[in-house]
Amino acid sequence: MTNRVAGGDRSPSPCTGALPSRTELRDVTRTPTDKPQLRRATAEQDSIVDSLMSSPFVTMWLIETDDHGEITGGHRWNGELGEFEPMAVADALENWGGRIRPLENGEFDRLADPEQKVERLLIGGKDAHGPLHLGLICPACSANLIVSLIRQVSVSSAIERRFGTAERQLDELMRANDSLVVQVTEDFEELTFLRSISEYLECSDESIGYLQMAETMIEPLARGVRAAQLSIVTIDAEGAYRVELTCGCPILSEAATESLLATLGREIGGRPYVQNHFDRGPLAARYPNVERLMVVKMASTRRTLGYLVAVNRASLGLEDIEARLNDQSHQEFGTSEAALLGSAGSILASHAHNVALLKQKEDLLTSVIRAMVSAIEAKDQYTRGHSDRVALFGQVLAKELGLSDAYAEKIFLSGLLHDVGKIGVSDATLRKPGKLTDEEYEEIKRHPDEGWAILQDIEQLRDILPGVLYHHERIDGRGYPDGLRDQAIPLDGRILAVADAWDAMTSDRPYRRGMPPEKAESILREGAGTQWDSRIVDAFFRARGEIERVMKEYDLPVKPPRVTGDGHGSRLGEPSPTSTQL
Ligand SMILES: [Fe+2]
Repeated sequence: MTNRVAGGDRSPSPCTGALPSRTELRDVTRTPTDKPQLRRATAEQDSIVDSLMSSPFVTMWLIETDDHGEITGGHRWNGELGEFEPMAVADALENWGGRIRPLENGEFDRLADPEQKVERLLIGGKDAHGPLHLGLICPACSANLIVSLIRQVSVSSAIERRFGTAERQLDELMRANDSLVVQVTEDFEELTFLRSISEYLECSDESIGYLQMAETMIEPLARGVRAAQLSIVTIDAEGAYRVELTCGCPILSEAATESLLATLGREIGGRPYVQNHFDRGPLAARYPNVERLMVVKMASTRRTLGYLVAVNRASLGLEDIEARLNDQSHQEFGTSEAALLGSAGSILASHAHNVALLKQKEDLLTSVIRAMVSAIEAKDQYTRGHSDRVALFGQVLAKELGLSDAYAEKIFLSGLLHDVGKIGVSDATLRKPGKLTDEEYEEIKRHPDEGWAILQDIEQLRDILPGVLYHHERIDGRGYPDGLRDQAIPLDGRILAVADAWDAMTSDRPYRRGMPPEKAESILREGAGTQWDSRIVDAFFRARGEIERVMKEYDLPVKPPRVTGDGHGSRLGEPSPTSTQL
């Protein structure tokens, strides 16, 4: 209960001689409120107190005690009861024993004095300075009535107290609820951001650049940290800043953002830079629209990619709640925002680093594959460009068959390396211009196994092994190396078999011209279902136009062979269904 005995600030104090007013006496036992129920309760209480104070048989006192019940002062208010009229406050207090048990607000106590035929009744109250007691001295004959009345006062006071407590609790609950709404909203934005990032990371691969990733991240990230403006800024090797992406309100221009970062420079270290009073700092004049600023570094363990720059706090769209709370912590960038922005910076920097590493690996792998293709062609110069064309034909066929781009890419790589095993075939056999002996043919037939052996330990090329190993199998089981039949032959092998045969039949060789397309087409049709998979032969003819386009683009001049024989007989790639696919 607040102090209302002496006008709220206890000045003048009841102990200094000024009489408390009737209103002040009422207020010992109640707290004003706007609640309708309480207005009724306090009105009833006021009425009772007024009745008591108007009674000629009642004397009222204000008694002050300390926290231990020690009487520290008091003041007689009025009273018409003659025998007590001359009594001084000190006498009254002495009669009461000089010590009163501290009474809680509204608590009632009764001090009987049979000889005087009066009763002294106390009702407790408390203000900021300690307990107060409203004392009533009245004839014994009316004591029961007064006790009853005071009990009602006490009840009213208790009701009021409960309502007051409930009101305060309600206010606290509402405030807690408001805080919770703001917190939940902020958490929701953060979770939305994290979920979008996790989903993105699950479906993304390193072929997606970090800026593409950043485009997806930036808006949920800005909401997650409640930034009015969020920019992604990179820094190049020379230390120049460049704004790559911005979302939100146009508070800082790109040029201003870059100049701000250049100015802050060394102040931004590995930890987030948070300035919630930027508008009071030394740079306020140069950047007048910036109130709050948060900058985190986008860095992996090896390099700094750039910075994330968050400017000013955005509203959550809960203006009423935010106004009620008027909580500064909700208006500032805090630890959680810095942590979230820092995590996003690390993700972007790590992704950029991974992309760069993957690019290096891909470049290395491409170099290795090209080196292998060059080695094949150096070994068997008759078939220059053959690997590239088989790769491209195989890719066309894969797409025509409705296979995915990734599968078509795999077929392309298989085509490039399908004859890599020829590196293991002796030069004498490989370069022999004349007809091969059975032994030499057996040696040639080992090149799919040789190719498999060469590539099997290269993790990145594992997927292309079926094409390399089985591109000489036949549907009727008369192929090599394993004599597989029909669908037992991996699809990659069946596709490359058609691509390989077509190039072998139609490409020029130093010792002979390529077969006319019509004848090669006829051979393919005749061999469909026995040598080649008829579905793939059909796909070949459906994609005939595209095949023709590839042939023209790769119509490479044929170098004359360094080693020449008699120029007769079967050679690698001769246009015969049984010898075209060596
Ligand atoms: Fe081959």
